[in-house]
Amino acid sequence: MTKSYNIAVIPGDGTGPEVVAEGIKVLKAASGLSDFDLAFTEYDLGGEHYKATGETLSDDTIESLRKADAIYLGAIGHPDVKPGILEKGILLNLRFSLDQYINLRPVKLYEGVDCPLKDKGPEDVDFVVIRENTEGLYAGAGGCLKKGTPDEVAVQESINTRKGVERCIRFAFEFCRKRNREKKLTLCGKTNVLTYAFDLWERTFYEVGKEYSDIATDYAHVDATCMWMVKNPEWFDVIVTDNMFGDIITDLGAMIQGGMGIAAGGNINPEGVSMFEPIGGSAPKYQGKGVINPLAAICAAQIMLDTLGETGSAVRIEKAVQKVVKERLASLSAGKMGFSTSEVGDMVTEAL
Ligand code: IPM
Ligand code: MN
Repeated sequence: MTKSYNIAVIPGDGTGPEVVAEGIKVLKAASGLSDFDLAFTEYDLGGEHYKATGETLSDDTIESLRKADAIYLGAIGHPDVKPGILEKGILLNLRFSLDQYINLRPVKLYEGVDCPLKDKGPEDVDFVVIRENTEGLYAGAGGCLKKGTPDEVAVQESINTRKGVERCIRFAFEFCRKRNREKKLTLCGKTNVLTYAFDLWERTFYEVGKEYSDIATDYAHVDATCMWMVKNPEWFDVIVTDNMFGDIITDLGAMIQGGMGIAAGGNINPEGVSMFEPIGGSAPKYQGKGVINPLAAICAAQIMLDTLGETGSAVRIEKAVQKVVKERLASLSAGKMGFSTSEVGDMVTEAL
């Protein structure tokens, strides 16, 4: 029997709809070449919807999304809406409500892509960051007192639970084993200062590590991780870290793999529904111009198929992206690719 997947699509804001359209084009072509079907259901969420209705994300919509096999997201963020409202109301709300406790972000430099690191090439930049995605500073714990007065107090706490830390670390060990590259997992933390939170992380890391004798373990402080990512990125295979550090180091990661035009990730709930997105944001200044690079969204689609178990098709998409990047594109930056957004989508589709 032919397998069929229901994909919930949230094109979202800015250039989100443009890049998602190209991702769907590639997904449809990939399913046509394989033995699975895809059904897409679009959800109108984002800045425009918020401006029109005052609603970010309703409970009904969350329940409906929960029933999908996967969620494919373009971007969330609108210049007319105060920062935080859409990010917390939609993106973080989805990650939390659907318990997508892993944020998986590959950092892989493809051949032919300009890398800002001197003397580093595709063989040096190829690792994956596993970012905890539901806790830490993102949990929203804290508050303020006497706001707007000279006595104002602001507290923002990092929440780290044994369960949350352990399931993330366990996923990272499993992932590292399955990836089967160097079989090395690095914990990125700050044990020298954040002596409560990263004590929990470190103890859990080495305890769980005992169950994975085939995986080498390593530790680096977050500041040193940034340094090594620039100086010796080849040292990394898989990095596991908390939500905030993961957010920061994956933007650095995106830059060393060629920029936001190619960086993608998955918000994964291994027991539930996962959501896949380009990590670049809504880029409003490029909206509607047909110049944004759709490859990050296409790579997000690739991670989605891989997570759904359609590994063959995922590999096929990655190879097609690699071919287009190497043989056709002048640059990965918006407006400098030498082709329009939809032409790049067409080229990947042909290369499949
Ligand atoms: C990301 C983004 C989000 C985050 C923002 C938009 C809330 O930067 O996906 O990395 O901080 O997680
Ligand atoms: Mn980020």
